[in-house]
Amino acid sequence: MKLVATCARGTEGAVRGELASLGMKHLRGSRGAVTFEGRMEAGMRACLWSRTAMRVLAPLASFPCPDAAALYDGVRTVDWTEWLNVKTTLSVAASGTAPGLHHTGFVALKVKDGIVDSLRDALGGRPDVDTRDPDVRIVLHLSRGQAELSLDLSGAPLYRRGWRNTVTEAPLKETLAASMLALGEVAADRPFLDPLCGSGTLAVEQALSARRIAPGLGRVFGFQRWPRYRGEWQSSWDRMKEEARGAILPRAPAPIRASDRDEEALDAARRNGRAAGVEADIELLLAEARTVEPFGEGGTICTNPPYGERIGGQPLQLAGFYRGLAEAFQRFHGWSVLVLSGNPLLERNLGLRPEWTHRLWNGPLEVNLVRCRVP
Ligand SMILES: C[S@@+](CC[C@H](N)C(=O)[O-])C[C@H]1O[C@@H](n2cnc3c(N)ncnc32)[C@H](O)[C@@H]1O
Repeated sequence: MKLVATCARGTEGAVRGELASLGMKHLRGSRGAVTFEGRMEAGMRACLWSRTAMRVLAPLASFPCPDAAALYDGVRTVDWTEWLNVKTTLSVAASGTAPGLHHTGFVALKVKDGIVDSLRDALGGRPDVDTRDPDVRIVLHLSRGQAELSLDLSGAPLYRRGWRNTVTEAPLKETLAASMLALGEVAADRPFLDPLCGSGTLAVEQALSARRIAPGLGRVFGFQRWPRYRGEWQSSWDRMKEEARGAILPRAPAPIRASDRDEEALDAARRNGRAAGVEADIELLLAEARTVEPFGEGGTICTNPPYGERIGGQPLQLAGFYRGLAEAFQRFHGWSVLVLSGNPLLERNLGLRPEWTHRLWNGPLEVNLVRCRVP
């Protein structure tokens, strides 16, 4: 069957590389998604191991969708008794548009009607809708007059690894942090430093990856609540998780350091590291970013500096701050610098020639991932 890993725009290359290394076949990237082929177990494996994808979907039907009636009819072509019964709850999430179908709320309602009516005809009863915590999450995407109807294997999006327990200012999504590490080819066996670590997302993701800890080991997924899960897939899933536990390295092979000048941020990073099971792998320091010094050789500074609003906001001040950062980075001879930049001033003041720049989307924000090498 065809499976789809959805992702943030710009991270498709990272998702593709990751799925290939998981042994997934027939990979194809499009905007914000990578498709692959395999059995349902392949989708479950992707949920367990993908650090970069947002969700894993199993398409059930694809049909032309010129209007609401076609949408309803298309939904009714699926045999919903395979996925739902009268006791399971469901939710429908819609995205995209088609001519005459501009309101995702209305589209979701039509899809829900089609599913519920099918089940009432087949089973004589209907499942309830639960938008907050459904047993089965159904996704409908409209694009170029075509509707794609899928089951969501993930449940909560994959960036919810289960370790983030404190709300801090402007944290990176775990999946975006992991995509930065993958696109930047950050080595697990070289020193790592995030000198503006905030809640520690990059350091935690680096530690999880360096120790080969499957990012999905600490959470449950949507498919685990499907009626067919117990009878058909639970034993494969248990085996996959057992293997994943066996693959964990006892410690990260190289030092991972994260610092911030804000004590609350460091505290959040400490709690996140602990919850993720990598506290011992990350050295946390209270430090001004412009004073950091190199340790070890050939490492990577990987960070997303503030883009402006929280350090005064004046362009001149910001340029000065970035220049100070750049001066510190230039002490790291032989290291790579990987920054997620939401402000062209940062790139202009880095004082290092970029090896490459890659455009990414941090939510709605267009940002650049820039990699430089310090001579
Ligand atoms: C955009 S946030 C980083 C968010 C982080 N990647 C995360 O996922 O939580 C930037 C961080 O830089 C820190 N910061 C700002 N100026 C600093 C400075 N001069 N020295 C050290 N840290 C600084 C802030 O305290 C903030 O935590």
